[in-house]
Amino acid sequence: MIDSEVNRIIDPKETKEEQTLDVSLRPKKLDEFIGQQKIKDNLTIFMAAAKQRQEPIEHVLLYGPPGLGKTTLAHIIAEEMGVNIRVTSGPALERSGDLAAILTNLEAGDILFIDEIHRLNKVIEEILYPAMEEYALDIVIGKGPSARTLRLDLPRFTIVGATTKVSMLSSPLRDRFGNIYHLNFYENDEIGKIVKRSAEILDVNIVPEATEKIASRSRKTPRIANRILKRVRDFAQVKGDGKINDDITNEALTMLDIDEFGLDEIDRKILELIITKFKGGPVGLNTIAAATGEEMATIEDVYEPFLLQIGMLKRTPKGRMATEAAYEHLKLSSTDQANKLL
Ligand SMILES: Nc1ncnc2c1ncn2[C@@H]1O[C@H](COP(=O)(O)OP(=O)(O)O)[C@@H](O)[C@H]1O
Ligand SMILES: [Mg+2]
Repeated sequence: MIDSEVNRIIDPKETKEEQTLDVSLRPKKLDEFIGQQKIKDNLTIFMAAAKQRQEPIEHVLLYGPPGLGKTTLAHIIAEEMGVNIRVTSGPALERSGDLAAILTNLEAGDILFIDEIHRLNKVIEEILYPAMEEYALDIVIGKGPSARTLRLDLPRFTIVGATTKVSMLSSPLRDRFGNIYHLNFYENDEIGKIVKRSAEILDVNIVPEATEKIASRSRKTPRIANRILKRVRDFAQVKGDGKINDDITNEALTMLDIDEFGLDEIDRKILELIITKFKGGPVGLNTIAAATGEEMATIEDVYEPFLLQIGMLKRTPKGRMATEAAYEHLKLSSTDQANKLL
C-alpha cells in the first residue's frame, strides 16, 4: 500500500486523501492562484463585466493535463462571483433524470461544474445543448405516438467544464462555451512559489534551495509539487528536526525515485523501452502499454504529456519516438544509436 503510493508520487491524478485534505492548500481567490497569468487576466475582465451587467458569466471550458488547477479555478470563479457551485462529472451523469434534477435545483447565477466533461454520454449532451443555449429543459412525457415534449425554463446558470482531452469533446458541445482556456504546464519559478505558499500553510520551515529543488522535480505540476512537499515534510520530521533543508530533500527524492528531471521509474521504463527494444521508435501507444504493463490511458494522460513537454518524446503519425534528449538523459546514446543505424 505505502509502496504503491510512493511509486505513484508523480501521478498527477487526485488521490482520495488529497480530495479531502488538500482543501487547505487550494487557493480560494484569483490573486492567490499562482501563474497562468493570461487566463487570470481574461477571467478578471469577463467576471467584472458580468458583475457590472448583473448577469451570470458565459459558460467556461478549462482544459489541460491533470493537476494544473482546473478544479481550483472552477471554485475560484464561484467564489469571486459570489455564487453557489454544484459539482458533478461526466461519468457520474448517467441518467437524464439526474441531470434534470440538478438543473432544476440551480439558482440564477449558480455554477454547475462538470469535471471530465469529455465523458458525458450522448443523451445527456443533447439535454445540455438547449440548457446551455436557451436555459430550457425539454422533458419528454409519455411514450410512443402520444409522447409530448414539455419545455421547462431554467434559471440562467453557468457551466464550468473541465477536461484533460479537449479533442474528445464533440464540436457542438465545445461551441457552446463562450470562454475556452488552456492550462499549460507551469514555469519552475511559479511552482517554487506554490511550494513556498503551501509550506507556509502547512507551517513547515523550508530553505530556498529545497523549495527550488522540489519545484524543479515536480513535472511543472502544482498537485505533484504539493505531494512531494508533504512527503519531504514527513521525511524531515522522522529523519531530521522537522526543518526541510537540502540534504533531507535530496534523501527524500532519492527514496521516492524521482530524478533531476522529475521522471520516475515508469517514465524511464517507457523511454528505455522505446530506445532499446524499438530502436528509438516510432512505436504505437498500445505496444508501449503492453510492454510496460501500464494502461494505455495512464500512459497517455499521466506520463506522455510531460515527456512531450520536456522534449524527451515525440509524437509522429506512426507512433512515439524517443528524442536525442531521452538518449542523453538515460545515458544510452552511443551504442543504441549505432544500433538504430544498422
Ligand atoms: N495556480 C495554482 N496556485 C496554487 N496552487 C495550485 C494552483 N493550481 C493548482 N494548485 C494546487 O494543486 C492542486 C491540484 O489542482 P486541481 O485544481 O485539483 O487540478 P486539476 O483539477 O486540473 O486536476 C490543488 O489542490 C491546489 O492546491
Ligand atoms: Mg480536477
